[in-house]
Amino acid sequence: MSKRKRYLIAGNWKMNISSSDARELVVDIAGKVGKVPKVDVLICPPFTSIPEVKNSLSSLAGAESIFLGAQNFYPEKNGAYTGEISAIMLRELGVSHVIIGHSERRTLFGEDDGLLNKKVLYALGTNLIPILCVGETFEQRKNGREVQVIAGQLKSGLRGIFQTEAKKLVIAYEPVWAIGTGETAVPEVVQKMHLSIRELLRELFGPKTAASIKILYGGSMKADNCKSLLQENDIDGGLIGGASLQATSFADIIKIANELSE
Ligand code: PGA
Repeated sequence: MSKRKRYLIAGNWKMNISSSDARELVVDIAGKVGKVPKVDVLICPPFTSIPEVKNSLSSLAGAESIFLGAQNFYPEKNGAYTGEISAIMLRELGVSHVIIGHSERRTLFGEDDGLLNKKVLYALGTNLIPILCVGETFEQRKNGREVQVIAGQLKSGLRGIFQTEAKKLVIAYEPVWAIGTGETAVPEVVQKMHLSIRELLRELFGPKTAASIKILYGGSMKADNCKSLLQENDIDGGLIGGASLQATSFADIIKIANELSE
């Protein structure tokens, strides 16, 4: 089956893999993956491992389609923001993508829709590709509110974005109950949610732009369940936590995505 756009397979290392272990993992991933001309790969290490990942990638032949991402930033140019990192600092390190609004940021660090919207706008303004994460809790799904919750998160997160900028966006649908739990949503359920996201993007930005925006799935995606997920029409890749910490499992997902593109 040939998909209409390139898959994006993104690894979110979260607060794992210190800079002393990063090179080994990156070299191992690249070695196991080999050539995957039809897939974009993204690695999002902790801030302190970014330089090591960048150096490792630049010394590897065939790693041109492996991009470097960050897991967070603060949407100001510079100033008195103790403990924060700016978008410009990330750009300087060769970072091209940034995760925004992961449910761990929303719940553990109290990031609200207003701040997340500011981050999305700021990322676009500094040429970072925002990966805006949305997802419902188990409770919200149980009450039949999942589509409404996701629509609310998207509308606030994407407020004020012009159509011309919107095609650079990436959206990640990550049901909170599936993150790090081993509990993956079944492909048909994910497809239904992705379709509702696509429809909302259509309303906001028109059909052409909506069709070009990548919508990733995240929540216990692994080598043994990624194929059926990636085969769905509106699933354009994955945002992968646990399975991106091991070279074999991450490389297997990338290879499966590449095969599906052929
Ligand atoms: P998981 O994490 O793959 O470990 O469920 C996904 C994420 O939180 O992005």
